[in-house]
Amino acid sequence: MARMSATEECPLCAGTGWRQDQSQAAVVPCECRAQTRLARALAAAQIPRRYENCAFTNFQLYGDKGSPKYNSLLNAMKQVHSYAGAYPLVDGKGILLTGEPGRGKTHLIVALLKTLIAKGANGLFVDYQELLKRIQSSYDSTTLTAEHRVIRPVLDAEVVVIDDLGANRITDWVEDTINYILNHRYNEKKPALLTANLREERMSGAEGERKTHATFQERLGARVASRLREMCRVVEIHAEDYRERQT
Ligand SMILES: Nc1ncnc2c1ncn2[C@@H]1O[C@H](COP(=O)(O)OP(=O)(O)O)[C@@H](O)[C@H]1O
Ligand SMILES: [Mg+2]
Ligand SMILES: [Zn+2]
Repeated sequence: MARMSATEECPLCAGTGWRQDQSQAAVVPCECRAQTRLARALAAAQIPRRYENCAFTNFQLYGDKGSPKYNSLLNAMKQVHSYAGAYPLVDGKGILLTGEPGRGKTHLIVALLKTLIAKGANGLFVDYQELLKRIQSSYDSTTLTAEHRVIRPVLDAEVVVIDDLGANRITDWVEDTINYILNHRYNEKKPALLTANLREERMSGAEGERKTHATFQERLGARVASRLREMCRVVEIHAEDYRERQT
């Protein structure tokens, strides 16, 4: 059957979702229902155009085979893939991908989100900074409740991606807001799929001084930092920047 978009009409059932069965004696649900559901659910997830085509099948393993960097990509891919296979039997736990920019964190998390949606979950993608901006500019920015029109979908979604967690400086308001969201989801046993360019601890020595990597604690506060470890499987990616890779 040809692929349809959510708005196209199905030739088998003229868009009614019901068609005659082979014997013409009964009316049965049309096959297009599953496709329509998938197309709708993907559209509802609001995955940015830039990442729309990210999948496990086009995630490349690069670097010298067997090198630590290659193995790191392989491990990340395996962990995320096995999570997808296990879902929904994950006991409310999510995944947190960490690493520097260009390591394919967003690519992998989107591939995972799309896979879970195909399995029947309702999912939503939000960018951390974008989300905070939208909450902040809403008329009820100071009241953190489940009824908040911007926060609500992030609490309600069966699976949520929050991309680039901690990407800006922390304030009390930011800390309270992200704590509220993650805590709510944790209590409801709803997984969060997260990416972050943050470290567990400040790096020591010369490298630590040259590169100024923020830690989870610095960008999200101690409460959120410790909650994250409880609510997610943390997977670190060490690799070259995909856009500057040699092999
Ligand atoms: N291993 C990979 N295989 C294929 N494409 C990749 C890979 N890693 C990154 N990319 C692509 O490179 C770009 C940057 O990756 P992205 O996922 O945004 O990195 P990050 O989120 O870690 O900063 C994206 O277009 C992504 O699809
Ligand atoms: Mg990213
Ligand atoms: Zn149909």
